[in-house]
Amino acid sequence: MPGYDLTSFGVTEAQVTHAAELIRAGRLVAFPTETVYGLGANALDAAAVARIFEAKGRPHSSPIICHISSLEMVGEIAAVWPESAQKLAGKFWPGPLTLVLPKTSAVPDLVTAGLPTVGVRMPAHPIALALLTASQVPIAAPSANRFTQVSPTTAEHVRHSLGDRVDYILDGGPCPVGIESTVLTLTEPVPVLLRPGGISRQQIEEVIGPVASAQEPQADTAHASPGLHPRHYSPRTRLYLVENGKVPGEGSGAYLQLAHAPHGAVTEVVPMPRDAAGYAARLYEVLHFLDVRCLDWIAVDTPPDLPEWEAVQDRLRRAASAK
Ligand code: TXA
Ligand code: MG
Repeated sequence: MPGYDLTSFGVTEAQVTHAAELIRAGRLVAFPTETVYGLGANALDAAAVARIFEAKGRPHSSPIICHISSLEMVGEIAAVWPESAQKLAGKFWPGPLTLVLPKTSAVPDLVTAGLPTVGVRMPAHPIALALLTASQVPIAAPSANRFTQVSPTTAEHVRHSLGDRVDYILDGGPCPVGIESTVLTLTEPVPVLLRPGGISRQQIEEVIGPVASAQEPQADTAHASPGLHPRHYSPRTRLYLVENGKVPGEGSGAYLQLAHAPHGAVTEVVPMPRDAAGYAARLYEVLHFLDVRCLDWIAVDTPPDLPEWEAVQDRLRRAASAK
């Protein structure tokens, strides 16, 4: 795997080679990306992809993102490569942007939940790129957690959530972006933002012009993008988005503080980074950490209503939505 710096992540070439052999043999490998850990399988092998759904307890109505390590690999899975895709890939790949494009017949229907489109992204993480290069196949990988749980940003989170449901974990330390990729569909006349994420709407609009927003789906209907499911990204502990530090009056709880000090009794205050990227990088780690503490609630100081906070606001709203 020439060219990829693995050692600074504590991963050896032998480990990546082993992981790639498992992928080629139809097994499941969890690996770090710059956003969150992915639960990977050979995207062209329907039986391998079926194992992903089983391990996650994920409904078959949720399509899975396919990861690639070169633009040559795109042609295997995407039937059309519009100019907008070329521009966006040129600017943001490798990186946290997933492009939804018409799929080729090589992609099993299971991967795309029967949709005629496929989500494609080139991750910006040396271990993910090395694994893809060594495997020589596109890798289908949702976040490596049980369905509706908080996405993993460390190998420990993956172990905790999936245990021996995953055949192998490449442990590359914490994921730097910390929330999932932006998902953008290019199959409509106007591109539609299906999920805000690591690349902002503003950044995308600077490259291809105006982008539309997806409609919020009703619960239990088929979803254009199941990441839009309101209950995605939920900790088990009840989470409240609060204004001006107004924490719930009763029980034990933690407060994720930005600008406002808590008003009321709090078991634990977690000061959060004041910048959106820093906040995103810490959010899931903090939620995983607090979720095992058996608190009655987690209260979150609502972040500012500014464009750069769109993805964080989205994840917090979903985590706070009623169970
Ligand atoms: O950052 C990420 O995207 C991470 C890492 C592992 O790459 N992956 C991830 O996968 O978050 P997952 O399965 O948890 O979320 C996949 C998102 C969902 O919102 C899904 O609806 C959307 O991508 N998606 C995938 N294929 C699609 C398609 N053909 N059409 C519409 N949305 C699609
Ligand atoms: Mg997920």
